[in-house]
Amino acid sequence: MRLSKLGSYILTLLAVVHAIDKETSDYPLLIGSGIYDITGPAAQVHIQGYGKSSQSSNGIHMRLRSRAFIVASVGSNGAKNPQEVAHDIQQLRFRKHRVTEKARDSAPAPLLADPERTVCFVSADILCGSDLLTLKVAQRLEQLLPQQHGSKKRLCHLENLSISGTHTHSASGGFLQYAVYQITSLGFSDEAMDAYAEGIAQSIHRAYSKLTRCEITVAEDLLFDSNINRSPSSYLLNPVEERKRYENIGDTDKRMLQLRFTTAEKDIGILNWFSVHGTSLNNTNQLLSGDNKGYASYLMEKHQNGDESMPGNGSFVAAFASTNLGDVSPNTNGPRCVDTGLPCDVLTSSCGGAAEKCIASGPGEDMFESAQVIGRKQFDMALALLHSNKIKKLKGEVSFRHSFVNVGNLTVVLEDGTTAKTCPAALGYSFAAGTTDGPGQFDFTQGRNSSNGFWNMIAAFLSKPTPKQVQCHHPKPILLNTGEATQPYDWDPNTIPISIFRIGDLFILNVPSELTTMAGRRLRQAMTDTITSRGVTDPIITIAGLANSYTHYVTTFEEYTGQRYEAASTLYGPHTLAAYIQEFNRIMTDLLNGDPSSTSDPPRDLSSQQISLIPPVLVDTVEFGKEFGSVIVEPEDEYTRGQDAVFVSFRSANPRNNRRPQGTFLTVDKMLADNNKWKTMYVDGDWCTKFVWNGDAALFGISFAEIHWQIPPDTPLGQYRICHFGARKTLFSEAEALLGFEAPEWLSSSTVGSALEALLSSGVKLFHSICQRLGSCVEPLQVERSRIIEFSGCSRPFLVKEAGATPTKEFSE
Ligand SMILES: *[C@@H]1O[C@H](CO)[C@@H](O)[C@H](O)[C@H]1NC(C)=O
Ligand SMILES: *[C@@H]1O[C@H](CO)[C@@H](O)[C@H](O)[C@H]1NC(C)=O
Ligand SMILES: *[C@@H]1O[C@H](CO)[C@@H](O)[C@H](O)[C@H]1NC(C)=O
Ligand SMILES: *[C@@H]1O[C@H](CO)[C@@H](O)[C@H](O)[C@H]1NC(C)=O
Ligand SMILES: *[C@@H]1O[C@H](CO)[C@@H](O)[C@H](O)[C@H]1NC(C)=O
Repeated sequence: MRLSKLGSYILTLLAVVHAIDKETSDYPLLIGSGIYDITGPAAQVHIQGYGKSSQSSNGIHMRLRSRAFIVASVGSNGAKNPQEVAHDIQQLRFRKHRVTEKARDSAPAPLLADPERTVCFVSADILCGSDLLTLKVAQRLEQLLPQQHGSKKRLCHLENLSISGTHTHSASGGFLQYAVYQITSLGFSDEAMDAYAEGIAQSIHRAYSKLTRCEITVAEDLLFDSNINRSPSSYLLNPVEERKRYENIGDTDKRMLQLRFTTAEKDIGILNWFSVHGTSLNNTNQLLSGDNKGYASYLMEKHQNGDESMPGNGSFVAAFASTNLGDVSPNTNGPRCVDTGLPCDVLTSSCGGAAEKCIASGPGEDMFESAQVIGRKQFDMALALLHSNKIKKLKGEVSFRHSFVNVGNLTVVLEDGTTAKTCPAALGYSFAAGTTDGPGQFDFTQGRNSSNGFWNMIAAFLSKPTPKQVQCHHPKPILLNTGEATQPYDWDPNTIPISIFRIGDLFILNVPSELTTMAGRRLRQAMTDTITSRGVTDPIITIAGLANSYTHYVTTFEEYTGQRYEAASTLYGPHTLAAYIQEFNRIMTDLLNGDPSSTSDPPRDLSSQQISLIPPVLVDTVEFGKEFGSVIVEPEDEYTRGQDAVFVSFRSANPRNNRRPQGTFLTVDKMLADNNKWKTMYVDGDWCTKFVWNGDAALFGISFAEIHWQIPPDTPLGQYRICHFGARKTLFSEAEALLGFEAPEWLSSSTVGSALEALLSSGVKLFHSICQRLGSCVEPLQVERSRIIEFSGCSRPFLVKEAGATPTKEFSE
């Protein structure tokens, strides 16, 4: 008896030791993945990317997400003793079995990650990274993440954090702190910044709280028919021998590279890179959307988390991140003259001299279908890569190097040994022409009086380039001398963050700009040469684009001479790419040698100086005798799935009152047959629904929510309804507080009421200012300025049926 007990004890011990051994060798890294809602203001705030001031949000096509991955080497300075490791694994096991998902979210993770060897990578459904955004996220993380082992080290701070935008052109703008990016957005948007900073920090916190032993495998393949070069004549300026090397793939990159994160039990996510712009949705779109990459993520997360999972609410996180996509368009039918249907002039991308008539589109019938086709192609290949057996497992340590570079004033040693200088930022004339994905709207830059108030304000501070600056940017003719304009605050950054994340043989280059196809190839080739010369064979190199700041484009020196849009938007002169390669070489060498990297001062935090002309929400009202959330247009009695679209509309309020993070403005509910209860099937994060906010009639703050549901072919048959959720703003509390009464609901939500309310509240303001002037306020009135009140409503039920089926038949059987 005793002997067998001892025997089993020894066996258990051996098993544990073996398991520990196996876990440490098979799952050598600690990894967590997290996803969180970053949907910005869904009304009245500029959608950034095309530079078209009139393109502002009026609803949601799909919610925007931040997808975070933390990858860490295990142990403190790699020197954990076996007992510690065993203890940590026990902890992990315990947590795995005993702790519910919810508790796990809030419980701190075991302090396993090596603070010296941790990297945090985020792919967010936004236009691009922003230095101010990275700073705000880092500051928020100081509250969310505990310090490691009592040391001063922060897990994800400026140096080890990369926030890369997917480059969707359908997300809120106004979150870059430099004036030139705020012209079309009418200044800075606190709402966009808050949504992004909080959501990204929350996604990282979720990743942190799920840190688990993992392995990373890498797979890659070529994806054709999913992108085209939108400046082919520029590409042709590159040397013929160089282009020959890429003959098999041509003038855009076709490589899809994918990391797969796997624990002992399951896959927890993928991180995928493929070169293509988020410009399937064109500059007429006003609904927030992740565009083709957002759709690829949506499909993959649904596939892995199960059809029942709600968007953005599963444990598997699928990021389709941006890379060197500078000259790469998803509009694979190519550019055509919209008036004649004929091909555009190749060199100038214009039709009879008009650039705005030359527009690329396809492959779908309309822009939403195009986004779907390009998104699905990325998803299909990503799925194939997920199940591919041609994989490489990443082995080795995690490390990183980071440097702020004063790229506006750098001496660059060129390949032939001569030196050259970069220049303070400036945009050339072709910048204003835009691209075939979205023709330029910057015509007002020629004059100083436009309808754009922000432009009128900053145009007074236009900087005239010095002869030296003109010479430096040659052959680029300078339209906007942004790098030397510093009023009311800097127009463009002259200091950029660059960094390298290394995980075994994988090197992620975090680049704060859009590199063209050939520029990206040159940077990767230069890095490959540097790494292999140090004895690392077959390094895997990927460019994480639009990361941590935004500085427009980077073309090759040859492409620069052509001065198309991308070249005119290469901010720091003809040697910008050479400067990037030199600086990446510097920090790569430091990384391989184990040396620290030198750095310039970080860019300044200009948040206190930001100007915003974006009007606030004043008040919401409904017509007399009506209620918020009540239905205006009811659905029909029945619809055919896979064919019909349902349309309903509600009396609503400004969606900026509550962005409903991790929530929804709508639900499509199905009646459960067995218990007579409604079950939510779709939300505003789904591709098949659209929430359109119609505030045109906003005379007295009256507005409507229009909800579209394109019924998917696989929707279960049965009875459905559509519900709307919103929040309205009332100013009544101010008057109420003053007069000491509570306004009845019918009054506070009516037009008459709101007029009265406006009157009362200006009365209150007047009273305030007078008594303050007189200095005789006994006690300043502490009044809550406004109140946000939630409301909701549902349509009447309707039937979803099969094509050809009649409802009577269904009931009679
Ligand atoms: C991350 O970078 C910050 C500086 O930005 C540094 O203080 C911190 O120690 C780094 N953390 C790790 C895990 O190395
Ligand atoms: C998200 O998932 C959690 C559990 O994982 C669940 O409690 C919650 O209701 C889900 N939310 C939605 C909107 O489905
Ligand atoms: C945008 O796409 C729609 C089709 O969805 C098309 O009708 C429209 O002409 C396009 N507009 C521009 C400016 O590209
Ligand atoms: C540019 O850098 C050089 C040193 O490399 C320095 O002497 C010069 O003052 C700098 N110019 C500006 C405008 O900062
Ligand atoms: C605005 O433009 C008009 C001509 O288009 C010109 O006559 C006028 O002087 C301009 N105003 C200012 C303030 O520049």
